[in-house]
Amino acid sequence: MASGQLSREEALECSSSRHACHVMLYSDTASQLFGRTPIRHIVLMQMRFDGLLGFPGGLVDPSEETLEEGLTRELLEELGVAVPVSVEDYVESRFAPSHPPTSSSSSSPLILHFYVKKIEEEQIREIEKAAASTAADHGLEVLGMVRVPLYSTKSHAGFSCFLSHSFIGNARSQLVDSLLRLHLVSPGELRRALRSSQRMNA
Ligand code: GTP
Ligand code: MN
Ligand code: MN
Ligand code: MN
Ligand code: MN
Ligand code: MN
Repeated sequence: MASGQLSREEALECSSSRHACHVMLYSDTASQLFGRTPIRHIVLMQMRFDGLLGFPGGLVDPSEETLEEGLTRELLEELGVAVPVSVEDYVESRFAPSHPPTSSSSSSPLILHFYVKKIEEEQIREIEKAAASTAADHGLEVLGMVRVPLYSTKSHAGFSCFLSHSFIGNARSQLVDSLLRLHLVSPGELRRALRSSQRMNA
């Protein structure tokens, strides 16, 4: 297993750790940007209160709720819709980079659980509406939902430009790894986007 990664079972045995669950919600779409660039997929992320991009979700207390119940509760707070997420949507668990298992940090280690769930484009629109109106955290912990541009524009902006922003924790690699695994972008497209996002930040 990759460094810092642990199984769901191992993670749940870490009763002294803190736990957080986040989810990548996405759909297919037939719409085209400017009537010519296929958008292909809608992937939802959020602008957090700290100015960093991340996935919806949050801290869960496994002594009071299952990981998935906790995640669904966080989604209700942050999206205004209790999108049900199940064990089948689970992807992986790993220690937060700033809290490796060997760290002598004063606060207890944080284990990050990640989920991916495919929904319908119509549900994406409902979530965006609720997130900007009835969601309890709107304008507080969450400044807005954003869609990830997976295409490249003529001036090589788009996906590469999105990747050049700042992300919370390992949200950026959660995004990149998921897009590859689900074939939402090709390895070649990803390589080009990563290279040009590095140039933007240089
Ligand atoms: P509070 O209600 O203020 O506690 O926030 P929350 O429960 O919504 O927690 P939050 O979503 O901020 O997640 C808790 C911790 O998980 C954060 O402090 C980050 O370290 C980490 N985190 C947040 N978002 C992501 C994400 O998208 N991916 C990853 N890997 N980690 C994240
Ligand atoms: Mn226009
Ligand atoms: Mn929250
Ligand atoms: Mn959150
Ligand atoms: Mn919370
Ligand atoms: Mn909160």
